[in-house]
Amino acid sequence: MATIPAAKPGELIQDIAHLGGVELLTPKPDRSLLYFKDVLGMEVVHTEGTSVYMRGYGDYATSTLKLTGAKTSGVGCISWRAVGPEALARRVAAIEATGLGIGWIDGDFGRGPSYRFRDPDGHLMEVYYAETRYRAPDHLRSTLKNLPQKYTARGVNVRRIDHLALLCKDVAANRMFAERALGFRLHEQVRFENGAKEIGSWMSPSQMHHQMAYVVDIKGARGRLHHLSLWVDNREDVLRAADIFAENGVFIEAGPSRHNNSQGFYLYSYEPGGNRVEVYSGSYLVFAPDWEPVIWNEEERGTGVYWGTPLPESFISYGTPDVDAAVPAELEKIPVFDPS
Ligand SMILES: [Fe+2]
Repeated sequence: MATIPAAKPGELIQDIAHLGGVELLTPKPDRSLLYFKDVLGMEVVHTEGTSVYMRGYGDYATSTLKLTGAKTSGVGCISWRAVGPEALARRVAAIEATGLGIGWIDGDFGRGPSYRFRDPDGHLMEVYYAETRYRAPDHLRSTLKNLPQKYTARGVNVRRIDHLALLCKDVAANRMFAERALGFRLHEQVRFENGAKEIGSWMSPSQMHHQMAYVVDIKGARGRLHHLSLWVDNREDVLRAADIFAENGVFIEAGPSRHNNSQGFYLYSYEPGGNRVEVYSGSYLVFAPDWEPVIWNEEERGTGVYWGTPLPESFISYGTPDVDAAVPAELEKIPVFDPS
């Protein structure tokens, strides 16, 4: 196994700018579309095959959510935008060195050449740089010059995509892959058994607290999604989202309440296809270049709630697709990533 030229521990490489988009799989595409369009207030920009491409009003990219009709729920491709062509080349070389690369594609809707790979757990990802900038049609043009699309005041009207949490069999291996191959920095972590067992790692390519979290899959499965998170501007908007969910028969799993790690103010629902979706605000930014990851043990972590109702058991056990330790055959073929 080739060794990736390592950054210094904790160094923020910043070859990846941010999470560019997420593909969600749904066995109920029509109902899922209504949830994202009418309840969350996202905008449809393109349709292709069984996929619908959507955006939040504050997203500068043309599309940040791809909703794809499929046999099961779960996450499809997770897209990361590089800061430039050289940064993209550096990350592709680092990914290839892990043996987990798949290869180049021409690019999904609105994007240029993209390099696809899997993380050690099997989640499908891609890195890209070239992208078509969003131009709002007349009826969606904002009167604010610096807003890419007008605020339509429909449903929750989420502003933008924020982060995602992935379930995985081996948190440490995936966290190290993200650090070395993608250049992400670890900001917070939960470790049990006197630090021996890594339960969850919250990571980011930027000053955002986290754009991706790896959390242990207690069912021992691979390649699953815990949740996708969409941003609103303040806590009142999260509370209003709970009202809107209640009015529209959307199942609320947890919240509104506040996490201890990440300080996030959350509301978790299930979209009709079964995927957990978070409406989110708060949290904090990490500016320190010499940031030391904040590590929580069993006692400090508790249930993960700072105040409010404890999270239900389903929050720990449920992910998508909803399986019982079944590992898809294609994930069993992924080369072993040696993080040493
Ligand atoms: Fe979250």
